Amino acid sequence: MPCASLRIVVFPETPKTWTARSLEHDLTAAGRTADAALETLVRMADAHIAYDIRHGHPPLSAFASAPRLYWNAFVAVLEMHGQGTFFDPRLDDPVKYPVAARNKSGHVQADEDLVTPLLGGLQLYQLLLPVPQAPRGSYDRSAARRGEALFGGKAQCSGCHVPPLYTEPGWNLHTGEEIGIDNFQADRAPDGRYRTAPLRGLWTHAKGGFYHDGRFPTLAAVVNHYDSHFALGLSAGEKNDLVNFLKSL
Ligand code: HEC
Repeated sequence: MPCASLRIVVFPETPKTWTARSLEHDLTAAGRTADAALETLVRMADAHIAYDIRHGHPPLSAFASAPRLYWNAFVAVLEMHGQGTFFDPRLDDPVKYPVAARNKSGHVQADEDLVTPLLGGLQLYQLLLPVPQAPRGSYDRSAARRGEALFGGKAQCSGCHVPPLYTEPGWNLHTGEEIGIDNFQADRAPDGRYRTAPLRGLWTHAKGGFYHDGRFPTLAAVVNHYDSHFALGLSAGEKNDLVNFLKSL
């Protein structure tokens, strides 16, 4: 009988919500209490594991490794040349990644792996970093409250930016067409897609523009772009409400 073990961390995401996350898999659940978040995650994982076992798949193989686990291993081993293991056969593509394919960057193994034992603790630390709160007076509170209702309603933002993570729990990737931009940078990535940016603490990086290449100089420009791409029909007041909500996150 195959079995799966999961290490789960549960922490407060906002003053009103708790998040449960698997340390190994990109698997997340939210709830009003720590118990509720944990229970939802365990129920989801249970259902997937039962399905995987019935179909002869390795347990939870539908879920990518937890994003920080991937990037922490990537940076530690490939970029900082730490002594460890890094695995990603997608880098074997000689057309897309000639240098990585030649160097076998997706198959790095060390005799003694000094990196992998540290990844869990590092991820735990990163997950527990509190989201910096927007300073008082940096946004209009009542406009932000109206903006929150628009975000989950008429403006349809929460379909992708799912609160409280403000990204999709799961495979959070989209083509350029879906969000109304070109695929230039996306095509350099293994999956050819852009990642739904998590929006908490947005106010801390308001300089240098928004989207992966900073193409939108202000949040108002981002909202205008979505308004025309998704034909949302937002009024000037509604756009302002949404911008204030984004500033409050
Ligand atoms: C179809 C999914 C989808 C929907 C719907 C969507 N977004 Fe996005 N959003 C994305 C993706 C993907 C990115 C990352 C784009 C990039 O990096 O180029 C993004 C990026 C952003 C950013 C930039 C964040 C940063 O750090 O640069 C903001 C702000 C944003 N979205 C707000 C919104 C708002 C407001 C709405 C509703 C009007 C909305 N999004 C609807 C997928 C979506």
